[in-house]
Amino acid sequence: MAYTTLLFDLLDGIARVTINRPDKLNALNATVIAELDDAAARIEREGDIRAVLLTGAGSKAFVAGADIGEIGSQGAVEGQARALAGQRMMRRLERCGKPVVAAVNGFALGGGCELAMACHLRVASDTARFGQPEVKLGIGPGYGGTVRLPRLIGRGRALELLLTGAMIDAQEAWRIGLVNRVVAGGQLLEESERLLRAILENGPLAIKACLELVDAGLEMAVEDALRLEASYFGLLSATADMREGTRAFLGKRKAVFTGS
Ligand code: COA
Repeated sequence: MAYTTLLFDLLDGIARVTINRPDKLNALNATVIAELDDAAARIEREGDIRAVLLTGAGSKAFVAGADIGEIGSQGAVEGQARALAGQRMMRRLERCGKPVVAAVNGFALGGGCELAMACHLRVASDTARFGQPEVKLGIGPGYGGTVRLPRLIGRGRALELLLTGAMIDAQEAWRIGLVNRVVAGGQLLEESERLLRAILENGPLAIKACLELVDAGLEMAVEDALRLEASYFGLLSATADMREGTRAFLGKRKAVFTGS
């Protein structure tokens, strides 16, 4: 698929996906959602993509939400279908099996905050602002805001953001655990990439296992989640990477992982 609203570059294992509608603050219209869905499938499928950096074009916004021009005239059936399509795309990204970092370069509102939350890690520029302002428009979140926000920052804080629709700055987002790091604006992409490169030093099968276990384990009873973790621990013990990683440690050298 040729993209009209996304830039997609692959450099040394890291796919950089840039939502490219800066004149509309990168708002998520149906085309952006469809193209991100295609990009997520590609990321999952292609072996030379090992990690993802997702950001917004321009200096003002990561994503300023769903495209209000589109949702303003939708009916019930269309609204539900729009929510399901966005949710499917974000779930696909969340379950792509490779680490995904959102580099939040400005406003991350509504669907933008939801998209950032569907990424595994969030790095914010010091000018970033977050919020779920849907209630101000008389509608609620449709792309997982009521689902991921309480899981990420807790029920009370999530409800405060969801019910007031208030915006918070990057420091406050960091304080409540909505973002992992805040960096100077000019350093955002560099720092996000540095974080991904540090992750990519580690065993790829182990990384994938961590992503799957946290995703599944959060929804399971503790005993079941622990059993699943033990099974993966056993499974990873049968990999060449595990032999290499432990031997390298004992031999006081850097491990060379092959993903096998
Ligand atoms: N959907 C569609 N267009 C949007 C948009 C959105 N979510 N957010 C911004 N835009 C458009 C504006 O309409 C404007 O377009 P125009 O130049 O053709 O008039 C352009 O992007 C720039 O936005 P503007 O509002 O002029 O910038 P600002 O600096 O005054 O305000 C925001 C920035 C982010 C505070 C403001 O744009 C805003 O509140 N956006 C909506 C956020 C929202 O409610 N998101 C949830 C949607 S469910």
